[in-house]
Amino acid sequence: MKNILFVASECVPFIKTGGLADVVGSLPKCLDKEYYDVRVIIPKYSSIKDKFKEQMTYITNFYMDLNWREQYVGIFELEYEGIKFYFIDNEEHFSGDRPYAGMPWDLEKFAFFSKAALSILPVIDFRPDVIHCHDWQTGLIPVYLNERFQGNEFFRGIKTVMTIHNLKFQGIWDMKTIKSITGLSDYYFTPDKLEFRSDASLLKGGLVYANAITTVSNTYAEEIKTPFFGEGLDGLMRARANDLRGIVNGIDYDDYNPETDDKLVANYNINNFRHEKVKNKTALQKELGLTVDPKVMMIGVVSRLTDQKGFDLIAYMMDEMCQDSIQLVVLGTGEAKHENMFRYFAWKYGGKVSANIYYSDELSHKIYASADAFLMPSLFEPCGLSQLMSLRYGTIPIVRETGGLKDTVQPYNEYEGTGTGFSFANYNAHEMLGTIRYAERIFYDKKRDWNKIVDRAMAVDYSWSNSAKQYQELYDWLLG
Ligand code: GLC
Repeated sequence: MKNILFVASECVPFIKTGGLADVVGSLPKCLDKEYYDVRVIIPKYSSIKDKFKEQMTYITNFYMDLNWREQYVGIFELEYEGIKFYFIDNEEHFSGDRPYAGMPWDLEKFAFFSKAALSILPVIDFRPDVIHCHDWQTGLIPVYLNERFQGNEFFRGIKTVMTIHNLKFQGIWDMKTIKSITGLSDYYFTPDKLEFRSDASLLKGGLVYANAITTVSNTYAEEIKTPFFGEGLDGLMRARANDLRGIVNGIDYDDYNPETDDKLVANYNINNFRHEKVKNKTALQKELGLTVDPKVMMIGVVSRLTDQKGFDLIAYMMDEMCQDSIQLVVLGTGEAKHENMFRYFAWKYGGKVSANIYYSDELSHKIYASADAFLMPSLFEPCGLSQLMSLRYGTIPIVRETGGLKDTVQPYNEYEGTGTGFSFANYNAHEMLGTIRYAERIFYDKKRDWNKIVDRAMAVDYSWSNSAKQYQELYDWLLG
C-alpha cells in the first residue's frame, strides 16, 4: 500500500472557483484503492457550505510558529465518497465569503496552509510516500520539506509532485516580505531557487524542489518551455524537462452524464440525442427568456470571466455574431469588464443573448446539455474542462488550438468525416468568427453531418481512467 497525499486550495464539492477544484475532487476517487491510500488536505474556509461543515469531526489543535508568532492550527476530518479529507482550521486566515482575497493577504494564508499541512501529518499519523501539490498555494511544501522537516525522521524521504494547473498564478511578492512571512533563510532567495525577477515566487520554489513536475496536458507541457507561455519560468521548465510531463485531465463521468443527470429536463444518450437533447434547449430558452425556437443554434459559454479565456475576441465580434441566426448563453463571474460586456450585449440583443453573471453548478449542467456548440477561444489553456464536459453532452466545442484544447478536440474534417469539434489556430477575432460561421453552416445545412460529429464527440472517453493510470505510474516511478 502506498500513501498519497493531495494538498490543494480548492476541491469539489467543498469549495470551488475553477477547474482546479474539479481535478482535486475527482482524481483521488479514481486512483486504485487496492494500492493507494489517498487522502486530501484543504483549508477549512468559512465559505464552505454548512451542510459539509456539520459533517466534519474535530480531531485536535496545536500552535505552529510562522511569521514571528504562534498560530492556531485546528484539524477536522470528513470521509466523503470513500476518501478521507482533512480540513485545516484557522479563522484569521480562512474566514471571509471567498477562498481568495488577493495579494498580499493570500501569501501568508497559503504559507500558513503549506506549513500546517506538513505539521499535521505526525498528528493524524499519516506518513505519505508522495505529497501531490497543486498550484502556487502549495508551492512552499516541497521547499519546507527540504528545509526544516528533513531533520525529522518522520518526513525523511517523502517524495513530492508539483502539478501546474496554471503557470500565470505564482504567488509573487517582494522578497523581503516573503522571507519574513515564510521564515526561510537567505539561502533560498537566489535566482536558482525562489528569487524571481528580484521578487520571489512561491510556485517557483515548488518547481525547483519537487521531485517531479506535471501539468494538465501535453501541449501545455511543451508550451511552458517557451517565453510566451512560460511566465518567466520557461528556462526552469527547460532545465527540468526530464522531470516534467503532461497528463491530461479527466472529468467525473458520474457527475457529468447526460443519461442520469438530474439537473436536466430530458436525459439522453448517444442513441437518442437526436430527439431528446433539444428538449433541454427549449426549456432553457423559456427559463432564460430567450426566443423559444428548437431550430436555432445555441452556443454556450461557461467560464471564469478572465483574459485567459479569450473574451476580447468575443467582445470584438459580438455585433457581427448577433447578425447570424444564433443564441449565446453565458454563465460565470470574473473581471468586471467581461461581466459588463456580456450584460451589455444581453441588453442589446434581448432574445438572443443571455448573460448569467453568477456561479451555478445547476445552470452549468443545463447549458452543457442544451447548447448545440460551446465556445472557448482561449489565449492559453493548460487543460480546460468545459470542452470535455461539452463533448460528453454532445455539445460541439469551438476552440482555439492551444494547450489542452488542442489535445482534446479533434477538428472536423468534412472530407474524411472525422473530428469532434471545430478549431482555429491564431488568436485572431476574424479567424474565430470564420470558424463559428463554418460550424453554423454545418449545423444548418448539413444536419446529418453535424449529428455524426455529435456521435463521435459523445463516444470519446475523457473519464479519469486513462489519466489516473499515468499518475499511478508516476508515483510508482518516484518510489522506485
Ligand atoms: C486551471 C486551468 C485550466 C485547467 C484547470 C484544471 O483552471 O486554467 O485550463 O483545466 O486548471 O487543471
